[in-house]
Amino acid sequence: MLSRTLLRSRIAAPRVNSLGLRFYSFSQEEQPRIRIGSTAPNFEVNTTQGKIDFHEYIGDKWAVLFSHPADFTPVCTTELGAFSKLKPEFDARGVKLIGLSTEGVDSHNQWIKDIEEVATEGEKFGFPIIADSTKEVAYKYDMVTEDDFKNLKSGMVATVRSVFVIDPAKKIRLTMTYPASTGRNTSEVLRVVDALQLADKRGIATPVDWTEGQDVIIPPTVSNEDAKAKFGDFKTVKPYLRYTKLN
Ligand code: BEZ
Repeated sequence: MLSRTLLRSRIAAPRVNSLGLRFYSFSQEEQPRIRIGSTAPNFEVNTTQGKIDFHEYIGDKWAVLFSHPADFTPVCTTELGAFSKLKPEFDARGVKLIGLSTEGVDSHNQWIKDIEEVATEGEKFGFPIIADSTKEVAYKYDMVTEDDFKNLKSGMVATVRSVFVIDPAKKIRLTMTYPASTGRNTSEVLRVVDALQLADKRGIATPVDWTEGQDVIIPPTVSNEDAKAKFGDFKTVKPYLRYTKLN
């Protein structure tokens, strides 16, 4: 029985068949298991901005990696246009955006022209889209439905709407998965980036529907004495539910 580490190192590199073509094993057993705190699987892939090594692309920034079912589809067009318009907001938070579908670079580039025509209000499209035609990334990040997992080997698959927020240490910090029929909420993606970065910086947690500037929660692991020293005033609703304002 191969150890999980050895299995992972085997899928990290593509295998090459007798015709010299790269292929990947898409076995369920060898698939990485992505959890909050896992290292984001690395990959080298073609994108609309050239070939990238994903970890090098992230560098010392945060990243949001998100997949789309297919090029030239209506919901995806609205999503990519909206994310592109919000690029300055992501830049301000030190976050690099990168999209994905399993079609090629030429198709993506043609589609970007449409996105710029109808969904970016005349702005240039702002970030790379991965051409995951080998489906390596879709497999490593499990961006497929139960049925399409079985089809990975056989042809084009439509990825679901996955979102991965990855920190500069390349750790997975948050995941979301939406079906093809439901477009994502760009404000929610920005909101969770704000919440994650604030939690890292200030050692707080954020309550339901929190947005920037609202009261935050003092984690139960912080004693009242430490909370006073760290945050000054705070409001105790229950011994385990304490709110404070950040300045
Ligand atoms: C869309 O992006 O519009 C879409 C893609 C696949 C299925 C349904 C909608």
